[in-house]
Parts: sequence; structure tokens; C-alpha cells
Amino acid sequence: MNLFDRFSSETAKQFNYFPKIRSACGRELKLENGNTKLNFASCDYLGMANNDFIKEAAIDAIKHYGTNISGPMTFCGYTKYHEELEKRYAELFNISIALMYTTSYQANIGVLPVIAQNIDLIVMDKLCHVSLYDAVKLSNKPFRVYQHNNITRLTEIIKNNFNKNILIVSDGVFSADGDYCDIRALCHLKSIYPNLTIYIDDAHGVGTLGENGCGLVEAMGCLNDVDIIIGTMSKSFGSTGGFCIIKDAELAQQVRFKSTTYNASRAVSPGVAAASCMSLEINKQEGKNRRKKLSELVEYAHKKLCQININKLLSNSVIIPVIFNTVEKSSQINNILLNNDIMVSLFVPPYVDKKKSRLRMTLTYNHTRQDIDTLVDVLSRAISAI
Ligand SMILES: Cc1ncc(COP(=O)(O)O)c(C=O)c1O
Repeated sequence: MNLFDRFSSETAKQFNYFPKIRSACGRELKLENGNTKLNFASCDYLGMANNDFIKEAAIDAIKHYGTNISGPMTFCGYTKYHEELEKRYAELFNISIALMYTTSYQANIGVLPVIAQNIDLIVMDKLCHVSLYDAVKLSNKPFRVYQHNNITRLTEIIKNNFNKNILIVSDGVFSADGDYCDIRALCHLKSIYPNLTIYIDDAHGVGTLGENGCGLVEAMGCLNDVDIIIGTMSKSFGSTGGFCIIKDAELAQQVRFKSTTYNASRAVSPGVAAASCMSLEINKQEGKNRRKKLSELVEYAHKKLCQININKLLSNSVIIPVIFNTVEKSSQINNILLNNDIMVSLFVPPYVDKKKSRLRMTLTYNHTRQDIDTLVDVLSRAISAI
């Protein structure tokens, strides 16, 4: 039984899920009922989701190629934008081959089972994203789950299985807790046990971290040691699409041909591929400045939140959880924020276990310090009122 098995239309109604949005994604969102909310629920970290250059690139591509590629890339869907996009991913990570997917969920369920063909045991962090759990299940290989970020436990499992080929799987920046995987510790283990392969899904780190925006792996100086990185264009980069970076070019070629979500499903439309190319160009030109402003906002928000004495776990990132432990309290506080025109993400089951219910707030380049002041002020009053 998985947490999502209990998700129903009642849950969706109860928690105001699927809000009807009637504006482009930005620091504010307009709803169908005319209300405008200050948006702390989006993952548009670098503020690119409504960028004029990106929109124009998409429109030009649609004018030339239409809205559909009419077949998988294998047969008739590999336009110049798809080709350019894979080159741009490879260029960003300074490798020879990179693979594009329609989303990073699709990347995980397509890539991991292929990588696992040469693996005896998969060991994953408990807080891995659901797409990684699905990918591991699809791989049909034995797997073990270690407590979140518990490197001691991970080491024990590795020692007990020293004669097996092991795939270590983890998020980079954890999507619900906002803390970081200790990638340096994983790489240290790999230097001792050469039978390890490291697979990091850094959907939230790519774009927000690292000198060039290659994510947590780059920020930790581990680009040469991590074997597989999964990233997304759907968060920091304001487009849609997943990608896969594999250090070993021969393995990358195998994945290209064996991965069904690459070969038996359509790629993103030409407009989306062109949008992604343009956002990677903007990342090249302005990414450092955008990340600098974002990290200043992140530091400011964490400092302000520390002053109101909330439990934000070990997060220091763009993702800030505020833990309330019960569904009722999280939902009540969420309603107060909504009534004060602030939108955050309510994380209760199926997104997290009910005892870990929380609000998840995400920061973007488009926010201002004043927005953060407003959020902290309303949150603090909401907590006192309950
Ligand atoms: C760690 C992680 N991986 C994958 C995904 C899925 O991203 P995408 O929208 O590109 O499928 C998410 C998104 O929520 C995520 O947090």
C-alpha cells in the first residue's frame, strides 16, 4: 500500500488541492474566483516560467514545427530543438552525451531500471521522491531503504553486501524536507568500495545550486564522482522536461537505446524543447546573478523564520518545511494563510506521513524581502491563533 492509494476526491476537496489558476506562474497567482495570492507554492526558483525570451523561443518553434512531433524521437520526432537541447545538457555538465525526457519522473522510471540491470542491490534514502520508488519497483531488483541521510546505516548495509554491485539512490535536495543529501559522504564510500554506483535525482538542486547551476553535486565538488544525475527543466528553468547525465558515455548510449520512456513515448513538443534551450541560454548568461539573488532571499527567509521559532527541520534551501505534526493543524494554518492571500503547499498524506504533516514554502528569484516579511508575519499570527 502506498500513500497515494488513499488519495481521493474527498481529500482533494478538503485540502483545496487543484486550485484553479488563471494567470501565468509568478510571484503572484490569480485564481478563478478573482483572488490573487502571493505565491510561495511554486518551484519556479529562477523566475523563468513567464520569461519573454523563453516564450518567444517556444512560439517561433511552434510556428515552424507545429505543436506535436507525431512520433517518438526514434522515428520522426528529433527536431533541431531536441538535438540542440541534448547538446546543451551535455555542455552544461561538460560531458559528451546527455539524454532528454518529457519529465524527470519519466527520466527516473526510464533510466533507473536500465542502470539496475548490472546491479545486485539497490539502497535508497527513505525520503527519496516517489518517482524513485516507482523506478526501483520497475527495476525488479532487491532493494533496501536506509533512514533519511543516515550514512552510518548506509555504510553498514554496504559492508554487509561488500561482494555485490550496489546502486545508491538519493534525492540531492530533498523535495519535502529541503535538506541536502551528504553527497560527499556517498563519494567517500565509493572511493573505499568500488562496487558502488551513485544515482542522484537533483530536481530541486539543478538551477538553484552550483557555480553553473549543475546542482548540489556541483556545489559539493562531486561532479567527477557521481555516476548518474537526473535533473528537471520544470522547476528552476521554467520549462518542462527531465534529463539524465551519465558520466560513462558508453552506459549513456545503452540507456538511450534501452530506456522505454526515451524510445517508446513522444518527447516534449518542439515549443517546449525550444523553451528549454532558451532557458539554458539564460542560465548561461544570467544564472549566476539569479542564483546570487535567490540565495540572499533564502538566507533572509531562514533568518526571519528562526526568529518565530518554528520547526523547519534541517532545511537551509529554497524549500522550507514548517512542521506541525498533525493534518488538522497544518490544514488550519494553511486556511489562515489562504484567507490572507498567501499560497503555500499543504503537505499531508499522500505527500508525507500524517505525523509529519507540514506546510512547504518555496522561494523564487521573483520574491522580494517584503514578500517574505508578509509571509513570516501572517504565519506567526496564524500559529499564535491556533
Ligand atoms: C526529487 C524529485 N524528482 C522528480 C520530480 C518530478 O519532477 P518532474 O515534474 O520533472 O517530473 C520531483 C518533483 O516534484 C522531485 O521533487
